[in-house]
Amino acid sequence: MIEFAQATKVYGKSDRAALDHLTLTVPDGCVFGFLGPNGAGKTTAISLLTGALMPTEGSVRVNGVDVTQEPVEVKRQIGYVPDGMQMYDRLTGNEYLNFIADIFDVSKADRQARAERYLALFDMTKAAGDRINSYSRGMKQKISVIAALIHEPKVWVLDEPMVGLDPRASFELKQLMREKADAGATVFFSTHVLEVAERLCDQVAIIRRGQLITQGTPEELRQRSGDESLEELFLELTDDSAAGEGEVGAK
Ligand SMILES: Nc1ncnc2c1ncn2[C@@H]1O[C@H](COP(=O)(O)OP(=O)(O)O)[C@@H](O)[C@H]1O
Ligand SMILES: [Mg+2]
Repeated sequence: MIEFAQATKVYGKSDRAALDHLTLTVPDGCVFGFLGPNGAGKTTAISLLTGALMPTEGSVRVNGVDVTQEPVEVKRQIGYVPDGMQMYDRLTGNEYLNFIADIFDVSKADRQARAERYLALFDMTKAAGDRINSYSRGMKQKISVIAALIHEPKVWVLDEPMVGLDPRASFELKQLMREKADAGATVFFSTHVLEVAERLCDQVAIIRRGQLITQGTPEELRQRSGDESLEELFLELTDDSAAGEGEVGAK
């Protein structure tokens, strides 16, 4: 379970909160989609969740443990796929997976079994012997996904994970997210690809300008808005043209 409680982040001298008193509970066994336009605060929220940033105010708890108070304990529970990840380019895929497995103290047998399965699933078995700096963006993304699963995390956090993936890899990733949630893990991911959210997620939350706009099952959200597609609802709810800050949509 993930609990954001009034989680707030103000960057440096900014006069506006990038994340503004976000209160949100993500239950176990759930694929949770965190939606919002560019600049809404998705990556900021995920950085608070993974302990990469400290909240200015409020807190985030993972399975009851406060991220700020026990960052190491929380990090052990999380598998994290960052957005546009900076990787150890000079390592091969296999070396990178071993490096991550070492950090998380994963036994040789477990790491081997997991790497074998996920590399095959994402058609990366052969490429795993090559250096990461020779990979395409999609291949880097796939290695990042596999690395995040090498310690079988209870909480899987993915920031815009479909970006750069081909349809096949994207399909496999979605299946895997469903599988992990069905096995009891918490799967929390951000996206602006709404069709994905609509079909994959048990619950979604929509944020805009750092604030939670609405939360529920895709079905509940549609009903509330009179059977519109989630996309229409999203466009309506995140329409910043009235607020004067535009910038919605493009990416
Ligand atoms: N390191 C940073 N320093 C200052 N402002 C930032 C920083 N990172 C993000 N922001 C600002 O915070 C807001 C939310 O950004 P972000 O969390 O990246 O949104 P999203 O992931 O939803 O696109 C934006 O206005 C962005 O410009
Ligand atoms: Mg982002």
